[in-house]
Amino acid sequence: MRQNLNMQIKEPYIGQQEIIRKKREFMIPCVYHFYQEPMQIVRGEGQYLFDHQGKRYLDFYGGVSVLNAGHCHPEITDKICQQVKTLQHTTTIYLTQPIVDLAEKVSQITPGNLKKSFFCASGSEANEGALLISQLYTGKHEFLALSHGLHGRTRLTMSVTGLKFWRTDSHPVGGISFVPNAYCYRCVFNRTYPDCDIECAKQIENVIETSTSGEVAALIIEPIQGNGGIIAPPQEYFTIMKEILDKYGIVLIVDEIQTGFGRTGKMFAIEHTGIEPDIMTFAKAIANGTPVGGFITNDDIASSYKRPGASTFGGNPVTSVAALATLEVIEKYDLTQNAETMGKSLKNRLQLLQNKHSIIGDVRGKGLMVGAELVGNNKVPAQKEIDIILEYTKDRGVLLGKTGASRNVLTFQPPLIITDEDIQEVIDVLDCALTYVEMHKV
Ligand SMILES: Cc1ncc(COP(=O)(O)O)c(C=O)c1O
Repeated sequence: MRQNLNMQIKEPYIGQQEIIRKKREFMIPCVYHFYQEPMQIVRGEGQYLFDHQGKRYLDFYGGVSVLNAGHCHPEITDKICQQVKTLQHTTTIYLTQPIVDLAEKVSQITPGNLKKSFFCASGSEANEGALLISQLYTGKHEFLALSHGLHGRTRLTMSVTGLKFWRTDSHPVGGISFVPNAYCYRCVFNRTYPDCDIECAKQIENVIETSTSGEVAALIIEPIQGNGGIIAPPQEYFTIMKEILDKYGIVLIVDEIQTGFGRTGKMFAIEHTGIEPDIMTFAKAIANGTPVGGFITNDDIASSYKRPGASTFGGNPVTSVAALATLEVIEKYDLTQNAETMGKSLKNRLQLLQNKHSIIGDVRGKGLMVGAELVGNNKVPAQKEIDIILEYTKDRGVLLGKTGASRNVLTFQPPLIITDEDIQEVIDVLDCALTYVEMHKV
């Protein structure tokens, strides 16, 4: 994968200043970008991105948890190109094979009784569909969601999002109550795991009893919260949560949009918990950058959605072939195992950096979904510092992410093909960045 990586890119590119000008003139300003001095990205290969001047970047954000198989994987790209040249689009009113092959494949790799899928083109749509089918199945209309969760940009999915930063709509959908997440580093009950009695999970019952009419269709959760700052609850949280949901007949929707397809060291993050979702949603990494979203559920719940429901692009031959090829690559090269092995190594080395740099308050996550929360004295979120670190590491050819309610969590979600050498490169650059921030006392 390392050959030809520094080759010069010769095409005439407009450059970052002109892109920013066009963005300002022609795009809705909500579409923001990272960095004070951003670059024009023109090519991707494996774990690397290249700007228009041929500079190489080690991509440790993976298009926000999308490029699990790496950029432009040849085995995926070839199959997409072949399909584009053969049959690009029909919609689901005509019979095509890739959509049903994909549905069969997804049912084989998802846990428990999950069997029947609906395909669409994004994660937001997938969660919309999952929330709808939970209402159709239960005949109930309220929802529960977790604080610090993120589920999308449509009106309903934004309304079940528990992060102010992403809640642009000031008149959200009603009938939604939030329950505490398991953010052990900043426990809202001021308790310390494991002596905390998992108070946060027990509060779910209190919220059902005090903040809802009792007519709750579903709870939607991310098994590890991505945009919330890589928050991975302890096992007991899930066990207690599921007991409460079963008691009240509430459907569990597990949003695997960011965690799915090998990222956490299992095909799906919920598999770490032993809990079976009633509905699972997916998008992002399933097709390695080609737009596919969807939800899968059991026979019983599926049978409640019989009225016509169509997504123009859902299950399109090209995107379905892309998803099938991606899943084949993930399995063929055992990227799930690599995520587990490399994830442990990354976390260990970040913990060593934590001993050296007090700005790293917490290191957490599973597999290659890892976060390092940056703080000052008394855990004050290090918001200014994180931006300097992101800029510094980018200038030295390493791209990292930023998440968290206070936007102070350095986020590591690289392609699952990375090597130990790549991790060392990131750690070395980050070590220098942290030293720089400390020396300059920003
Ligand atoms: C956990 C989760 N759910 C849903 C979404 C929304 O997906 P999309 O942007 O494809 O609509 C995202 C996007 O970041 C996400 O991280």
